Amino acid sequence: MAEGVDAPFQPVPFLITDPERIPTPRYYDEEFYRLECERLWPHVWQMACRQEQIPNVGDWIEYSNLGRSVIVIRPKDGIKAFHNACRHRGVQLAKGHGSCETQGFTCPFHGWRWNIEGKNTFVYGKHLFSEHQLEQGDLNLPECRAELWGGCVFINHDDNAPSFRESIGPVAERIDQYQIDKMRAEWCFGTVLPANWKVAMEAFMEGYHVMRTHPQLHEAAGSLYQSMYQEPQGTAAPVNMRISSRDNIKAQFKHMELLSEGMAGMCHAKDVATASQLLDVDLPEDQLQALMTWYGILNDQVTKQGRARGEPTPDLNALAVSHPIKAVEFIYPNYFLLPFLSSMSAYRIRPLGPESCLFEIWSLTLFPEGKEPPPVMDVTMLPYDSKEFPPIPQQDYSNIPEQQLGLHADGFEFMRLSKDIEGLISNYQRIIDGYLKGVDAQKLAKAQHELGGNFDGQIKDLGL
Ligand code: FES
Ligand SMILES: [Fe+2]
Repeated sequence: MAEGVDAPFQPVPFLITDPERIPTPRYYDEEFYRLECERLWPHVWQMACRQEQIPNVGDWIEYSNLGRSVIVIRPKDGIKAFHNACRHRGVQLAKGHGSCETQGFTCPFHGWRWNIEGKNTFVYGKHLFSEHQLEQGDLNLPECRAELWGGCVFINHDDNAPSFRESIGPVAERIDQYQIDKMRAEWCFGTVLPANWKVAMEAFMEGYHVMRTHPQLHEAAGSLYQSMYQEPQGTAAPVNMRISSRDNIKAQFKHMELLSEGMAGMCHAKDVATASQLLDVDLPEDQLQALMTWYGILNDQVTKQGRARGEPTPDLNALAVSHPIKAVEFIYPNYFLLPFLSSMSAYRIRPLGPESCLFEIWSLTLFPEGKEPPPVMDVTMLPYDSKEFPPIPQQDYSNIPEQQLGLHADGFEFMRLSKDIEGLISNYQRIIDGYLKGVDAQKLAKAQHELGGNFDGQIKDLGL
C-alpha cells in the first residue's frame, strides 16, 4: 500500500509512489477526502459560472462547492465575487441567481443591506451596536478572487494562489484562438453520480475506453482507434487500407454523425451538415492523403460557412498548424473542454462526498453577434441513467458507478495505468498529492502547465 509520510511535507495517506499505480482508497477514504476539502479545493481555480449568465450590471449568480458559497456579480465595472454570508450573524444572502442593480442584497434575518459593489448600506438599529462593531470596512462583503477566461468566471478562495492564467499556463492562449470567449451555451445537463469526483473525471481522460464503452464509434472508425490503441504506435494508418478513399471518408462522416448524436456540442449539427455537403469532393486515391485532404476541405468550409452565417469562426486550417488542440483539454482541477471543428462541449465535476459527485455538461457554440440565445440559467438535472442523456455520456455514466463499487474489492489496492496513454490520470493525481503535501504554489502551477494537451498522453515528470 502506498501510504506514508514524505517529510518535510505534511503527511498524506495513500500517496502515489509509483506513477503508474493509483492507490484505490484515494477514491473513497474519508480522511483522504477531508484532506482534499481542506488542502486542495480552497486553493484552486474553480469554474463558477458562465459570463453570459450575468450580462447586465447587478446580475448575480451563486456558486457553491463543498459548503463554500460565493455570489458572482457584475458590478459597474468588471466582475466580482463575494463570500455569501451576512456580516451580522452569517445568514447566506443569496441563493440561485437574480438581478439587484438598485436594491442590492438584503439579509432575510435582520435586514442589513449591501449594494452591488458589496458595500454595506444599512444596519437596522445602528445605535444598538458598539462603535467598533460598525466599522465600514468590516461590514462590507469580503471579496473572493475572480478571473475571467474562456467565457467563464473562475474563482479562488486563496488570496495567495498564483493567478488563473499563471496556474493553467499556455493552454489558455491556445484555446483562446478558437474564440472560446465568444461561445455561448445552448444547454446544460447535470447529474449526480454515485462515485468519487476523480473516478468520474478519469472516464474522460483517455480514448482507450472507446473500443468497449462506445462500440458504435469504434465500428465507424475502427482503423483510427486501432492505430491509436491496438497497434504499436506509429505503425498503423488511421484509415482502412482495404477500402477506397471515398468509403473511408464516408466512415469518417458516420463517426462525426455519431459524435454529434452522442455529444451534441462536441460535434455540432451545423458542422455535420457542412460535412454532409462534402462527401463527393475530389479526393486523392491514397487513403491517408484523402483523409488529410478531406479534413482540410472540411475545416475550410466550416470556417467559411460559419463566417457567412455571421459567426466569429476562426480559421481552422491555420489553427490546426499554429495552435493544435487535443480532443479533450483539461483545466485543473475539474473543468474539461472538448473542442471539435466550430464548437465545444464543457464538463465540470464537483465532489458531493467521498463517493458522490455532481457532473454537468454544457454544449457551446458560436453565434452571430447580437443573435446569441438567452443564457442557460439553470442546469437540467437528470438521473445518471436517464435515457434523455445523449448516447455517449449515457455509455460513460453506465461504467462509473460500477467502477466505484469495484474499487472497494479486497485485494484491489491500486489502479494499473498505461504509461503511454493514461498519463493524464497519473499527472493530475500527483498534482493533488502536491497540494495535500503542501508543495510551493508556484511549483504546483508549473506542474499544471504539463496537463494541457495531455489527453491520451504520457506520464510526465512534474518536478514535484
Ligand atoms: S444575520 Fe443578517 S442581518 Fe442579522
Ligand atoms: Fe467515453
